[in-house]
Amino acid sequence: MKQRIRKAVFPVAGLGTRILPATKAIPKEMLPCLDKPLIQHAVDEARAAGIEQFIFVTSKGKTVLEDHFDINQDLNKTLEAKSKHKALQLVKDSELPAGSLFFTRQAVPLGLGHAVWCARHLVGNEPFAVLLPDDIVLSETPCLKQMTDVYGELGGNIVSVMEVPRSQTNKYGILDVGKESQGGVVEIKGLIEKPEPEKAPSCLSIIGRYILQPEIFTHLNTQSAGSGGEIQLTDSMAKLIGTQPFHGFRFKGTRYDCGDRIGFITANLAFALRDEKIAEEVRANVKELLEI
Ligand code: UTP
Repeated sequence: MKQRIRKAVFPVAGLGTRILPATKAIPKEMLPCLDKPLIQHAVDEARAAGIEQFIFVTSKGKTVLEDHFDINQDLNKTLEAKSKHKALQLVKDSELPAGSLFFTRQAVPLGLGHAVWCARHLVGNEPFAVLLPDDIVLSETPCLKQMTDVYGELGGNIVSVMEVPRSQTNKYGILDVGKESQGGVVEIKGLIEKPEPEKAPSCLSIIGRYILQPEIFTHLNTQSAGSGGEIQLTDSMAKLIGTQPFHGFRFKGTRYDCGDRIGFITANLAFALRDEKIAEEVRANVKELLEI
């Protein structure tokens, strides 16, 4: 029987250098996409997939992420006294149940693989999800829910994937692709972190959504630095291939990399154009800008 995915790891210890100076004093994950910080988009997506335990891998200067999911008694009382019911509801929607939020620190940003490894004792011996909050997915069904549905059928390890232009393979983890079955499920023969376009085995890239078996930690325990001098999650995942089922999943939706300026701006526009209260006005403003 497949064990249900109850825990999600959110690595949030990165420096966010691509979007400086915005991230000098506030974490990248607190930047907003429309009216919610990126981290709340990721946590809400995890909640929609039935996740019950939220594990943040944080670092110096990231405590505001912890506060965001707390109950802010003063704010709640003030909003209640002023009968600002809608605003109060928005604030309450960001609260997580007592005892469901866990924190560990990555003292030095040695890479995504190392960040996930820092959560090993909190994850324990069960399958878990990893969500990178700077990757935001606009979709009908939340991306992780699509993945847990596939996991319910296939079990094993699953990563969400999308096609990228060949010129950009050196920015992503790229799949060596085997057979593809119905429903967008792709067999993975190999994984390579940031290959140069001429060496990339495909243009199918991993996005920041993973379902992993706990055996990943066995490999992360001894994983040495790879591409960019960082301890890469991809390198340890590659070692699981052949020992456990490992699938790519072409999720339905659009991924935006909010860790860079173009992705961040585009995500905000895409979400605004989907918001029925503001879409019309935003569309008119964009049109006006394009005409200048
Ligand atoms: P990125 O590759 O976007 O790195 O990490 P970054 O440091 O956040 O940003 P740039 O590249 O300097 O602009 C993807 C995710 O992995 C986390 C980040 O916080 C982000 O959520 N991460 C990365 C860690 O937690 N620790 C690390 O050592 C590296």
